[in-house]
Amino acid sequence: MDNTRLLMPSAASILQSMRDIGYTLDTAVADIIDNSIAASATHIDLIFNTHSAPQFLIIDNGLGMNADELYQALRFATKSPTEIRQERDLGRFGLGLKTASFSQARKLTVLSCKNGQLSAAQWDLDYVIQSDQWLLKVIDPSELEIDEIYLDKISKHGTIVIWDEIDRIEFSKNPTEAQKYLGFLLTKLREHLGLVFHKFIEGKAKTAKIKLCLNHHEIDAFNPFCLSNQFTQLIGVEKIIVEESEVLLQAYTLPHFSKMTSAEYEVFKKRSDLLNGQGAYVYRNDRLMVWGDWFRLIPKTENSKYARVEINFDKKIDHKWTIDIKKSKASPPYAVLEALKRIVGKITTASVRISTKRVSKSLTTNESPWNRFSGEGISYRINTNFPLYQHLVSTLSDDQRLHLQSLMEVIQSSLPVQSIYSDMAVNPKQVVMSDEIDQQQTKEKFIRFAKFMQAENMNKAVFKDAAMSSSLFSQYINNLDQWVEEYYA
Ligand SMILES: Nc1ncnc2c1ncn2[C@@H]1O[C@H](COP(=O)(O)OP(=O)(O)O)[C@@H](O)[C@H]1O
Ligand SMILES: [Mg+2]
Repeated sequence: MDNTRLLMPSAASILQSMRDIGYTLDTAVADIIDNSIAASATHIDLIFNTHSAPQFLIIDNGLGMNADELYQALRFATKSPTEIRQERDLGRFGLGLKTASFSQARKLTVLSCKNGQLSAAQWDLDYVIQSDQWLLKVIDPSELEIDEIYLDKISKHGTIVIWDEIDRIEFSKNPTEAQKYLGFLLTKLREHLGLVFHKFIEGKAKTAKIKLCLNHHEIDAFNPFCLSNQFTQLIGVEKIIVEESEVLLQAYTLPHFSKMTSAEYEVFKKRSDLLNGQGAYVYRNDRLMVWGDWFRLIPKTENSKYARVEINFDKKIDHKWTIDIKKSKASPPYAVLEALKRIVGKITTASVRISTKRVSKSLTTNESPWNRFSGEGISYRINTNFPLYQHLVSTLSDDQRLHLQSLMEVIQSSLPVQSIYSDMAVNPKQVVMSDEIDQQQTKEKFIRFAKFMQAENMNKAVFKDAAMSSSLFSQYINNLDQWVEEYYA
């Protein structure tokens, strides 16, 4: 066609616009690590240097690139999203390396080694803006100032991605403040990567196990299903086929927090915040993309807070999931949503069971001093049929009985529900039902109780039941038999 006009985009404007696609430091680093994994790396080092100007390095022991491959790698949109890629390749648009880097820094240098040959090149944002052309700087590797220990890591093969002039992170001029902020950023980054790549770190991915270190400290995997705990339950599995590709859904309920080890509980409380962390966890070729989302099928409530659904899909059906450039968004195709809906039905009832089981055992049976009523609203009232209460009432005069009733009404109406709720939500393990007392003190309490109940006038078995159900001796429940026997002896 003659009637066309070649309209080249402005390199300066495009490059600057691309900085604001919406990456964070966490998602940007994850996108660079995807490339290392795709290049068969098994060891990836992340170094955030703030000695002089902030600098971030990602060093991998992957296959590396020769000079031509390196220039291709640095070309924007170097591969088409429709291109068929290798199984381990986590890339998609041929953009990640560049867009992720420029979201944080003004200068991206890549140094790579293949067959013992080093090559280096650099995108300098200010140079592109100035020339308004896509001019890549070819660098002599020997001119790069890089610590020997890092160069050694790629001496056979591997790649170092370097971000300089990191202008998207604002460090305070005050060194103490800057250090504090860096600590915060690195902790967040560590948690993000430990979750996103947990299958690779655990060695559960289809590709090789990887070791990921941030500033020389290894990053631990965070398995969001707490699979190391025997009380995690697999509630259901669904397999569906989307365009000849299998999508696997596995529904879990986490163990009640009282069944988690202290270490697990600490990690779960800190990292996923049980309530927020519920939902589907979507993996694309073992890499976590989206998590803690029910895709509007159900709201996030207390009742479903232990529920998690693992969804695994293959990148062959990327187009069905509408994946964004940052690879941090994906929406499930209709067939997956339907399967998720089916599995959610099962899982939420199981999760409800886990969170209310403990409550129902101690609070809603007839022997409990508290009753739970649910109708238009939910209320908790003192159970006036509770044997101990009944027993006390039977010893009182009419006046005293009315006084006791008033006192109980005051206690009942001032139950600090809000405060209990927030304490249980924030720090459940620290909420204790009673002060800790030792065995001797508990035994004295038992004798007081027996005297008050006039146990000697009661059937031994009935008294024992009353003592058991009072919750007063739960810490020393195994001693109760013996104490009862002694009392009746
Ligand atoms: N660390 C690395 N090791 C080897 N090759 C890499 C590395 N990083 C990037 N590449 C090459 O550069 C290409 C472009 O990367 P990128 O811009 O992230 O797009 P994508 O990952 O979608 O292909 C990759 O497909 C790969 O061939
Ligand atoms: Mg990539």
